[in-house]
Amino acid sequence: MTTLAPRSPAQSYVEMVQILLPGDANALGAAFGGSVMGWIDICAAVSAQRHSRQLVVTASMDDLHFHAPIKVGMTVTLRARVIAAFNSSMEVGVTVHAEEPTTGEKTFTTSALLTFVALDRDGKRLPVPPLLIDNERDRVAAAEAQSRRTERLARKGQGTSWLSLLGG
Ligand SMILES: CC(C)(COP(=O)(O)OP(=O)(O)OC[C@H]1O[C@@H](n2cnc3c(N)ncnc32)[C@H](O)[C@@H]1OP(=O)(O)O)[C@@H](O)C(=O)NCCC(=O)NCCS
Repeated sequence: MTTLAPRSPAQSYVEMVQILLPGDANALGAAFGGSVMGWIDICAAVSAQRHSRQLVVTASMDDLHFHAPIKVGMTVTLRARVIAAFNSSMEVGVTVHAEEPTTGEKTFTTSALLTFVALDRDGKRLPVPPLLIDNERDRVAAAEAQSRRTERLARKGQGTSWLSLLGG
C-alpha cells in the first residue's frame, strides 16, 4: 500500500469572503441560516480537497452554532482547515466572522465541524494523507477530533426511531 506524505494544516487553509445580500437574508434582515450553511460546506470542501488532492463528499456536518446574526451588507469571512485526517475521511473546522464595512468591527458569528470522505469517480473510497502535526495546539485539536469521531460514529444509527415518523 502507498504511504501518503503528511500535509500541513496550512496546505488545507481556505479563506472565503462574501457580502451578505438581501437574497440571503431572512425577514429580520439577518442571514438565512441555509445560505451560511451552504457557504460553510463549500469552504470546508475546498479545504478537504486541498488536503487530500481528491474529490470529496460531505459525510456530516455537526457542532453548527449560530453565535450572532449577520446583517445585510456585512462582509462575511469564512476560514476553514483540516483539524484531523483519518483513513478516507477528514474533519474540517470552519469559523465565520462578520465585518461591518464602514467601521471594520468584526464579530465571530458561526462555527461548524464537517467530515468529508475522499472518493474516486466510481465512488470508491480513497486514502487521505495524514495531517502533519508539529505543535501543541494542533495536537490537542486533533486529539479532540479523534474523540468526536468515535462519538459521531457510535451515534450513527442510534436513536433513530424518529426517522420513521418522517418516512426515513
Ligand atoms: C459519506 C459516504 C461516502 C460514507 O459511506 P459509507 O459506506 O456509509 O461509509 P463507510 O462506513 O464505508 O465509512 C467511510 C468513511 O466515512 C466515515 N463516515 C461515514 N459516515 C460518517 C458520518 N455520518 N460522519 C462522519 N464520518 C462518517 C467513516 O468514518 C469512514 O472514515 P475513514 O475511512 O476515515 O475511517 C456515503 O454515505 C455517501 O456517499 N453519502 C452521500 C454523500 C453526499 O452526497 N454528500 C453531499 C451532501 S447531500
